[in-house]
Amino acid sequence: MPVADVIARQLENASWIRRMFEEGIRLKAERGADNVQDFTLGNPVLEPPAAVQDALRRFAGDPPAGSHAYMPNAGYEHVRERVAGSLRASTGLPFEAADVLMTVGSSGAINVCLKAILDPGDEVILLMPCFSEYPFYVQNHGGRVVAVETGEDFLPDPGRIAAAITPRTKAIILNTPNNPTGRIYPAETLAEMEKVLARADQVIVISDEPYKQLVFDGRRQPEPASFITRTAIAYSWSKAFAVPGERIGYLALSPGLAERRALRGACAFANRILGFINAPALWQWAIGEAIDAPVDVAPYRDNRNLLCEILTRIGYDAPRPEGTFYVFARTPMPDDIAFVRLLQEHGVLAAPGAGFGRPGYIRFSLTVSRRTIERAAPALERAFESCVSAVS
Ligand SMILES: Cc1ncc(COP(=O)(O)O)c(C=O)c1O
Repeated sequence: MPVADVIARQLENASWIRRMFEEGIRLKAERGADNVQDFTLGNPVLEPPAAVQDALRRFAGDPPAGSHAYMPNAGYEHVRERVAGSLRASTGLPFEAADVLMTVGSSGAINVCLKAILDPGDEVILLMPCFSEYPFYVQNHGGRVVAVETGEDFLPDPGRIAAAITPRTKAIILNTPNNPTGRIYPAETLAEMEKVLARADQVIVISDEPYKQLVFDGRRQPEPASFITRTAIAYSWSKAFAVPGERIGYLALSPGLAERRALRGACAFANRILGFINAPALWQWAIGEAIDAPVDVAPYRDNRNLLCEILTRIGYDAPRPEGTFYVFARTPMPDDIAFVRLLQEHGVLAAPGAGFGRPGYIRFSLTVSRRTIERAAPALERAFESCVSAVS
């Protein structure tokens, strides 16, 4: 068999979200696109901000000499300085350009960081439920996943984290605003985590922040790096600038990491030997110009309001997310995979909580049109009613 056993096993468990996405393509071909309402993938439907598009046009039309050549693995110096400046302003910490490595999105940043710090058998704590790709990223680098449940409110439990830390724990991945739950970790939670983590000085907190600007109702995401000393920030413009196909993000080593000088070189080397080499040149230029482009969350907020109102009216337990573009609702039957299949029969696609490590829930992505939500309403109601009548 040409496929490695590890990959064959991982593929078997791999991403429910992708599987549903592919199922959606099949169903749409069979029933017609208008008859399938697809909430599976967090794939932005908006166009990038005008300032980003302008910057791209300028650079593509008149590229500075040498723009298409190899560059340092960490990226263009002037762009890293822009990112460091923006982090100095938002965190109050003395980030330097040398602390910033431009990456192939946030997944690139996380993989680079894990590659740089893990030896085989080292442990990485994941707070469940979590982004479904994290376990694979940890396994990519010989790491062992240690799953730690969050509470009923989906906030991290510092006591459980403390109990899970061993001498082999090298990292914990934090993700706020959180996919899939839509929760923003408040300042108090981050401060409590710092108390626990201050006692474990071999642990690096990888703070995955691709939804940082996607927050609603005037909320702000407190900066994890301002609270937790040993933080490496993984950021991506995939979500905020609606450019996930372009693959641009960064890894930033917080000044609180005593070993950051050694880590800078290790991470640049990891970027190289993982085959990324460097983040896309054109996109680095564009970000250097348009890093402050405003992000419009109104379409996601409106979709959130509409979908949560419909779900709640029907009887679902569907709290409004504070950020991201996902709604994480309880399924009206304990088996979320069976419920997802039931919804699918009714022409609605969404991802089961089991795919994120929290069965009994379902995740709807808000990266859809208003019409999709309106059209899904009767099917959501019929599926809910059939569960209720089955138990009564
Ligand atoms: C929490 C989280 N982290 C990372 C990623 C990957 O993002 P990128 O496109 O930047 O690699 C995603 C994408 O959905 C995500 O939800």
